[in-house]
Amino acid sequence: PSLHMDGQDGLLFEGVPLQTIANQVGTPCWVTGAGTLRRRTRNLRKAFTERGLDVALHYALKANDHLATLSVLRQEGCGADVVSGGELKRACQAGIAPSAIVFSGVGKTDSELTLALREGVGQINVESAEELRRLSRLARELGLNAPVALRVNPHIDAETHDKISTGRLGDKFGIDWADAIALYREASTLPGINIRGLATHIGSQILSPAPFKAAYARIAELVIDLRAQGLTVSVVDCGGGLGVRYRDELAPPPAALAGAIAETLGGLDLKLAIEPGRWIAAPAGVLLTSVIDLKAQRDGVSDFVIVDAAMNDLARPSLYGAWHGIVPLAPDLAYAETGPQTVVGPVCESSDVFAKDRLLPAVRPGDTLALLDTGAYGAVMSSTYNSRPLAAQVMIENGQWKLVRPRQRVEALWADDSVPEWLDSE
Ligand code: LLP
Repeated sequence: PSLHMDGQDGLLFEGVPLQTIANQVGTPCWVTGAGTLRRRTRNLRKAFTERGLDVALHYALKANDHLATLSVLRQEGCGADVVSGGELKRACQAGIAPSAIVFSGVGKTDSELTLALREGVGQINVESAEELRRLSRLARELGLNAPVALRVNPHIDAETHDKISTGRLGDKFGIDWADAIALYREASTLPGINIRGLATHIGSQILSPAPFKAAYARIAELVIDLRAQGLTVSVVDCGGGLGVRYRDELAPPPAALAGAIAETLGGLDLKLAIEPGRWIAAPAGVLLTSVIDLKAQRDGVSDFVIVDAAMNDLARPSLYGAWHGIVPLAPDLAYAETGPQTVVGPVCESSDVFAKDRLLPAVRPGDTLALLDTGAYGAVMSSTYNSRPLAAQVMIENGQWKLVRPRQRVEALWADDSVPEWLDSE
């Protein structure tokens, strides 16, 4: 619904002709649709209210942490899930109240924990016995109380890509669920620790409600067991992970996630929260890129379409073999008479492939393409590999658009480098 092909203006995103942006800003360029961010956040919230659940949305910053994105989500009533001191400061900078921030992550340093305590974050999701004791010491030294949930690893396979599964035995995340009760009891006695409940997050791009339900059932069991021992459990943070349709996946609707939570944790008188990232942000972004050259191949091998974006900009295809839709912006391109093509970037690695053997219309050098559903884990995962400056970013809303980050100047790439004086003696 956000994207629309117009016979005159070509591909529109939230009503804005993307070619206009490409012409004025150049490519590669990320475009974020504020309207899509808002619509999806509201739809997500609605799925929970329709199940009679009051669930706090803590948007996972890591998916797309641009200040403009965060401002939209703050306006939509989201808190934040952060995983580093940098993300914590970013969320505060965007005006998100510290009390609406949850600090997750498997390796929080002393200085990050101290920052979180000083800022007064709403909850710290602790991932090990060692971290819990360290946090207790730091909080005591500061004379503060840390609001804590224990992140539990429920040993559930989320049935998603191996590299984004986080809830199995052998994954580095969370506290082994068999150890959770003993540690919770310890937490309830530790000075400086205000233990409030449990958290879990089993992975990302999850395409079936079953693993969610299995994980939450296990958490529900823990809640009941803890309470039976006289311990207070008032919050459960259900993590993120809801998948989206990139190609033809049957992604579960938010109602399926709401159902999984309602059926397992719904009746336990808990303050519930989720940490969605991808579901909100992925379809709210496209990456614009221009065709540099075409390169024909012999012997039935797909011809190459060489574009000006690369794996340093959008890492997902090269990292996970991820599939992203690719649509030329021009309205009148024919699909006829092109065989499958392979879309590649200029980076000097054979993994720099956006699409292999893809049926695309006949494009020519200078044509602009949109890589779809790149609003989550897109710009945030960019690097400057091959001395390629970070791409420009644009936000659109209600037919207007605005450059929200200029293309990085090439001089900025080495601005912080210095050369030891002993090398300068020539
Ligand atoms: N909460 C925690 C503790 C997380 O680790 C994550 C994501 C989320 C929430 C948000 O999950 P989401 O709703 O976005 O699935 N770069 C990979 C995805 C990595 C996800 C890491 N953790 C990708 O591009 O597929």
